[in-house]
Amino acid sequence: MVELRKVSKEYRSGSTTVHALRGIDLNIKGGDFLALMGPSGSGKTTLLNIIGALDRPTSGKVLLDGDDIGAMHEWRRSGLRLRKIGFIFQEFNLVPSMTALENVKLPLSGAKPFDTSNRARAQELLGRVGLEDKARRYPSQLSGGEQQRVAIARSLANDPPLILADEPTGELDSESTARIMDILRDLNIKEGRTIVLVTHDPEVSRRARRVVKVRDGRLSS
Ligand SMILES: Nc1ncnc2c1ncn2[C@@H]1O[C@H](COP(=O)(O)OP(=O)(O)OP(=O)(O)O)[C@@H](O)[C@H]1O
Ligand SMILES: [Mg+2]
Repeated sequence: MVELRKVSKEYRSGSTTVHALRGIDLNIKGGDFLALMGPSGSGKTTLLNIIGALDRPTSGKVLLDGDDIGAMHEWRRSGLRLRKIGFIFQEFNLVPSMTALENVKLPLSGAKPFDTSNRARAQELLGRVGLEDKARRYPSQLSGGEQQRVAIARSLANDPPLILADEPTGELDSESTARIMDILRDLNIKEGRTIVLVTHDPEVSRRARRVVKVRDGRLSS
């Protein structure tokens, strides 16, 4: 599903260059559940953003279902992102002035504000994360774990085969973390979605199928 070949990423600011990634080779197969672990600054977020076509490598190739996403025009890349990839972030990134339901409805393709089918779809997605009864709440009226479940429902809006999560449980207690991991495991096992997540938590990585360690921009298993 995703193939990285000799991917490097450098950030330049003035006369200094940061080598965030140094020649990464990685294969992610459909149905995989991969955890990326490693110290702060080792390149995990950079790697995830490149896998998700949010960022481009300085050199090397990134293939998503055979398409070279590093070389694509931005408009094609964003179309591909919308159709194929769901993103989940550590800070949830919900819109505070919108209800849970409105947040989930937001990315639905061609969303129209009064479209009742989008509303039903958003309601169904909230049901899948166990929040059917909290659709009208605002993010500030939900716990951290509940907000992350809304964010997961939102990431599923366009039915993406690939889900990328950057420390999705980083701000949650152990009970909420377990619940989020149950949901991600179901998305992987029951629905066959491919999941790549970044975590510092050994309890979280234990529940992945495969753990890849990142250190100084390189991989070690
Ligand atoms: N936009 C940027 N400009 C310059 N340097 C950057 C940029 N983004 C990341 N870096 C640098 O690239 C390296 C890798 O950063 P990255 O965010 O990928 O690490 P990480 O493994 O996700 O760390 P953490 O666990 O703290 O989130 C670091 O040295 C960081 O300072
Ligand atoms: Mg990071």
